[in-house]
Amino acid sequence: MNIGIDLISFHTPAYYLDLRVLAERRGVDPDKFVIGVGQEQMAIPPPDQDIVTLAANAALPVLEEAGRDGIELLLFATESGIDQSKAAALFCHGLLGLPPTCRCAEVKEACYGGTAALRMAAAMVAARPHTKALVLAADVARYDLGSSGEPTQGAGAVAMLVTANPRVLALDPETGFHAEDIMDFWRPNYRAEAFVDGKYSTKMYLTTLIPAWQAYAAASGRTLADHAHLAFHMPFTKIAWKSYTRLCRAAGVPEPDEEETARILRPATVYNRRTGNSYSACVHEGLCSLLDNAPAPLDGRRLGFFSYGSGCVAEFYSGVVQPGYRGHLFTDRHRAMLETRTELTYRQYEDIFNYGVPQDGGDHVFAPYRGGPFRLAGVKDHKRRYEPR
Ligand code: CAA
Repeated sequence: MNIGIDLISFHTPAYYLDLRVLAERRGVDPDKFVIGVGQEQMAIPPPDQDIVTLAANAALPVLEEAGRDGIELLLFATESGIDQSKAAALFCHGLLGLPPTCRCAEVKEACYGGTAALRMAAAMVAARPHTKALVLAADVARYDLGSSGEPTQGAGAVAMLVTANPRVLALDPETGFHAEDIMDFWRPNYRAEAFVDGKYSTKMYLTTLIPAWQAYAAASGRTLADHAHLAFHMPFTKIAWKSYTRLCRAAGVPEPDEEETARILRPATVYNRRTGNSYSACVHEGLCSLLDNAPAPLDGRRLGFFSYGSGCVAEFYSGVVQPGYRGHLFTDRHRAMLETRTELTYRQYEDIFNYGVPQDGGDHVFAPYRGGPFRLAGVKDHKRRYEPR
């Protein structure tokens, strides 16, 4: 019996900053961001969007398509948690009208959280194949203004319905993973922005890719050529090219020419170039991008994934695209969402960055901005208040 992703949808804020604008302000050659780092734009969530609304906005189309019956598990992966106690999953449980017979919990391991939640959900569905799980992953990637991480900010959410006999992607049971206790990127509870050792984190990403791949290859007996495309965790899209070079070297195969490499890697990077990093949602945002933008039909083709969470956990895994998958995608919705976003000026970006949700413990009402069906209306009595738009 196959277990995997029955439906997958992604959501990103309705505002973005062009990285050429940021480059000009920072006195940097725009090619460094657009070519060197591989990012064009970064999504900026307005004050009335947070991880809960981003995730609920991603999930609604999935539930409108599949219904809510049989969903017994809701896992929410994030490293931008809004409460130290209550799971973000429960806010979404309420907004989305899920049944009371649904366990809810939050999962955290930096950008690896989405993959951890997906694998846990798949294990539960394998044990109880008549049930379904909803996996949400959402993050707002923030670094200090003017820091090296700034051009790799972004935001986004992914919703995945995990079932037996999935319509989009059957997960292969073989995976390879690797964990180490390191400090490459972290965010203490008293800070809204992460600390990151940029070069070290990139080094560890690329280093842990190899044991994860080798464990996967040993478990599955597969070679790189068995995967039609690859989707990597993408803090910035250039890392997919760096990773592929490393993988080819480790696998002892010559790297294909530029055109073939781009054919394998580019489809998964189309959305991320325009949203920036979405941390725990990133690798599956890459999957959405790949499914929506692959140059040829993927029915029956195997895809490879690499997930990396700082701290750190790395996993290489794979899945087979199901025949007829195209009829179950949200491609038009994804494209329309990206095409209708509003570009911010630098000043507007900085104003939004500095606003945030007030930490003074007072009551606040947030003006409505553009966005999906759910918004954060304000804070009252120390409780976030969400509402349909
Ligand atoms: N034209 C074209 N390319 C240019 C250029 C120009 N004018 N100027 C510079 N470049 C190139 C550089 O040669 C370099 O390319 P290579 O890496 O191929 O050599 C690239 O642009 C970047 O330049 P720098 O290395 O000088 O950039 P930087 O040090 O300012 O920042 C970064 C890079 C460290 C990754 C930074 O963006 C950062 O700190 N990001 C946040 C941390 C991060 O994303 N880490 C990734 C791994 S951790 C992870 O994956 C978890 C997560 O999501 C955070």
